[in-house]
Parts: sequence; structure tokens; C-alpha cells
Amino acid sequence: MRTPLVIGNWKMHGTVAEAKVLAGAIREGLRRPRGVQVVVCPPFTALAAVGELLAGGPILLGAQTCHHEAAGPHTGEIAPPMLVELGCRYVLLGHSERRKEIGESDELINRKVRAALAHGLTPVLCVGETADERRQGLTFTTVEGQLRAGLAGLTPDQTVKAVLAYEPVWAIGTGVNATSGQAAEVHGYLRGLVAELASKDIAQAVRILYGGSVKAENVEGLVAEAEIDGALVGGASLNAPGFITIVKKAARGGAASKE
Ligand code: PGA
Repeated sequence: MRTPLVIGNWKMHGTVAEAKVLAGAIREGLRRPRGVQVVVCPPFTALAAVGELLAGGPILLGAQTCHHEAAGPHTGEIAPPMLVELGCRYVLLGHSERRKEIGESDELINRKVRAALAHGLTPVLCVGETADERRQGLTFTTVEGQLRAGLAGLTPDQTVKAVLAYEPVWAIGTGVNATSGQAAEVHGYLRGLVAELASKDIAQAVRILYGGSVKAENVEGLVAEAEIDGALVGGASLNAPGFITIVKKAARGGAASKE
């Protein structure tokens, strides 16, 4: 049984002071989450403060990207050991905003995935097609290419430690989420690929999250799909009560089972 996972991606939002307020409210609202794991990914500048606030509790800390080397002359970059030092356990990699705005390639993302694993961070590899690609019937081709490249060179033992996130680009920040059926279809396809790349057992163990306009109103329908193991939440993770509701609804057994 895969434990559902909900990750809040705060993107480029919030001063340190604002991040502390948000993290504090989430911590209070989710003191003992049951049947679900929770991660928040503040901007780099707020990682230390949020990490201190969440230390020792059930909510884990993640970063939004990292460099693929441990140190070196890379102005403006942040290395995996720096994240580990601040208490990060997860790192988002290959988010479509970084693929598009920064031009991150599949090959670079793969280096980051391997670096994250080498330093004990759980990589959350994001894949997803654009609206054009979906229209042209290229959804599976696109996500397959991203997945194969992103996981290239990983041993089965490493693959099982990764988290995957299916985030259709057309659903991110648009308010238009993929339907449960659309998402489940792609998740099933991705799981089949993991079975091919690693093993059937590993494919059954790997968590595949859905991301793209997840909110309190649609999360239950999404996670009701056997293939959908939780959510990567952007905009709706910036509102503490809303995010708490999403987490509760995503927990195994639904909102009644935790607190
Ligand atoms: P959204 O973003 O929830 O605001 O659509 C999701 C993401 O980019 O991870």
C-alpha cells in the first residue's frame, strides 16, 4: 500500500516572515496527520526558518530545485548538501516552469535526480505535456521521454526512492485540472514504464502524484483513483486552511480518519 503524499510548492511566493506564518498555521492544523505524508517546499530564502519551525514534527521540508554538483563555481546555484544541512528531505526536479523559463533539459534534470539521490534527498521528478502536445496526441510520447531520460542510469534501488509527479502543463496555475480519468490514464502508463525500467514490484511501490490546479474541491476525486498517490499543489498550498483541507481529503480513508 502506498502512503499518499501531498506536497505544497510555494514557488516564488513569500518573505521569510510570511513563510513562517504559513508554515506555523500548517503545523498547527496538521499536528498528527494520519494516512498521509506532507511536504512543503518554500523558496530557498525561507528554508532555514521554515525548517526550524517544522523540525521534529511530521511535516517535512523540500526545496524547489537544486544544482547537480555538490559545490563549485556556479553563481546563484544551491547544492544538495546545502539543502540537507537545512533539513530538506525532498527536492522538486524538472518542474515545467523550470523546463520552460530556465531551459532545463531532460539530461540536466537527470543529473539533478542522481545528485539528489546521492545526497540522500528524495527527488520528485515532474513530467507533463503541453496543451499542444495533448492536442496532437503526443501526451504519452512526451511523458515517456521525460520519464526515461529523468530516471536514466538509476539502479532499481534508486528508482524506488524517487517520487514521480504528473503535471500537465496546461493544468498548472490555470484552474483547469486534468480529470481523474485523464490523470489516471497517464499515471498507469508511467507506472508501466517504471515496471519496464526497474521491476513490477518497484513500480507498485513508487508514488505518482498528480499536480495542476489541485484544490480542496477536486482533490478527493483525483486521489480516489487507485493510480493517483497524492498531489503536488501550487497556488492552493499558499492558503493554510485550504492546504490543510487538501491534505485531510487526500489521506487514506478520507477526512474523517485523521487529525
Ligand atoms: P498549481 O501548480 O497547483 O498552482 O496549478 C502546481 C505546480 O506547479 O506544481
